[in-house]
Amino acid sequence: MNDMQSIQWFPGHMTKTKRKIVENLKLVDIVVEIVDARVPQSSRNPDLDELIVNKPKLIILNKSDIADPERTTEWINYYKSKGIGSIAVDCKSRKGFNLFVPMVKDILKEKIDIAKNKGINKGIRVMIVGIPNVGKSSFINCLSSGKKAKVEDRPGVTRGNQWFTVSQGFEILDTPGVLWPKFDDKLIGEKLAFTGAIKDQIMDTEQLAARLLEYLVLNYKDDLKKRYKLEDQDIDNLKGYELLNIIGKKRGMLIAGGEIDIERASIMVLDEFRSAKLGRITLD
Ligand code: G4P
Repeated sequence: MNDMQSIQWFPGHMTKTKRKIVENLKLVDIVVEIVDARVPQSSRNPDLDELIVNKPKLIILNKSDIADPERTTEWINYYKSKGIGSIAVDCKSRKGFNLFVPMVKDILKEKIDIAKNKGINKGIRVMIVGIPNVGKSSFINCLSSGKKAKVEDRPGVTRGNQWFTVSQGFEILDTPGVLWPKFDDKLIGEKLAFTGAIKDQIMDTEQLAARLLEYLVLNYKDDLKKRYKLEDQDIDNLKGYELLNIIGKKRGMLIAGGEIDIERASIMVLDEFRSAKLGRITLD
């Protein structure tokens, strides 16, 4: 696999992104951070916490349709214990979206009440942030009922801000703040790569699939056994590559000479994980 450090974002780029997010912060009442519910920790950029001081925040665990529901509840409880509000949503079925407006209003209750008492009826302004591929554009499209075009995947927030109204004086900044992923720890980079957040072209697919299988044996063994009709003796004490061989063989993925087509088996395992055919799996 590529060294994760070598795909770090260019520092100049990061400074510009940070500046733009801070600029836009002044315009909003609340920051909504989107994370991938399958990797709620690894898909967060910890620098964001330093950037958004003195501004309320809500975390959206998106893609909850393909994450482990029990783990999602645990993460929501964890954030709650840290005093951070969070909700689980799914942009595919719109599940959880009904909680968004009441949750933001609850977080901003004091501010809204003070404004109300002063007779001010100002809209609530929201900025969406998150690393690429967590579903920022999908979330914005879902909130705007699909009337908005897909937002380009570019770090920072573009100039010429546009807002759109969601409901009762709710205004969302049309362009999300795109943060860079953080690969301080090799495991974080790996987990992001498993979910497809890092382009496969720069990864070693076979190594990635082998590592994913090793993780699944430890944490989701029953799902793995069920999907590939494996027995304990097929799995126990095997390295990821050996498992890939067995899975490829079971699926009849052979090349000339009767050898197993490991490349094809690797792509299949990664695809089946990403499309939740292996089950609803959370990696953090
Ligand atoms: P971004 O702006 O943060 O970069 O993310 P974007 O909305 O482009 O979403 C990235 C991928 O995640 C898209 O898949 C999108 O369909 C998928 N996605 C977003 N939200 C959800 C969700 O709640 N559940 C599931 N299962 N998937 C979600 P893609 O493969 O890039 O495109 P496509 O499948 O839409 O063609």
